[in-house]
Amino acid sequence: MKIVLDDVEKWYNRGESKGVHALSGINLTVNTGEALCIEGPSGSGKSTLLSILGCLITPTSGVALIDGKPLSRLPDRFLTLHRRQTIGFIFQRFNLIPELSVLANVVLPLLPLGLAPSECEKRAEVLLEKLSIAHRKQFLAAKLSGGEMQRTAIARALINDPPILLADEPTAHLDTKLSLDFMAVMLELKTSGKTIIITSHDPLVSGHQLVDRCLRIRDGMLENTT
Ligand SMILES: Nc1ncnc2c1ncn2[C@@H]1O[C@H](COP(=O)(O)OP(=O)(O)OP(=O)(O)O)[C@@H](O)[C@H]1O
Ligand SMILES: [Mg+2]
Repeated sequence: MKIVLDDVEKWYNRGESKGVHALSGINLTVNTGEALCIEGPSGSGKSTLLSILGCLITPTSGVALIDGKPLSRLPDRFLTLHRRQTIGFIFQRFNLIPELSVLANVVLPLLPLGLAPSECEKRAEVLLEKLSIAHRKQFLAAKLSGGEMQRTAIARALINDPPILLADEPTAHLDTKLSLDFMAVMLELKTSGKTIIITSHDPLVSGHQLVDRCLRIRDGMLENTT
């Protein structure tokens, strides 16, 4: 799926003393099947940009389009449906439910589909195996290490088989081997046609063969945009 951002701007608390101009003049096209990396210092707007692409927040002005559809004009319930079917989001801070098991966290996005629990579990187990965390499937998310939480979050993002994957600093809590495993999973997904956008400080990510293009963001503005 092709993603376009047209002159996107984002303010938090605009007009107030604590107002932040998080993004300005963002023009970006990400083609179907492309893998893009966005690098930038802390506070430069990476998570904000990814959240707009993932329909978690809306731009203050400008438009985000997916396959030509302007997201900001969709009513909330369509946006929710669109997000569920289209986007897999791997959050910087995992956003797992601590009192649920790994398995229960991973199958959460399947609940609205009304599938049989055994089918949900089967799908989850395939991903948990792939991400080397199957041995923790009955553990509470609260009891996991940082790397295990991250891999659980990755499995949850992939369970709906979304065409677009957004990952916010996905290797920040992984060691080198697990980071390479993660990138290998992403490469396989890219080969199957998915569009991937990753934010990262990690040279292992930006220099990986997965990445077709790397952009820098600084003070809410993209450099080298094409
Ligand atoms: N919900 C919010 N309310 C107010 N300001 C926010 C909010 N979210 C982010 N900001 C501010 O917007 C700017 C961009 O933040 P963002 O989280 O997008 O940066 P980032 O590049 O992801 O940083 P990091 O590398 O630390 O994750 C920062 O100045 C941040 O303080
Ligand atoms: Mg961030």
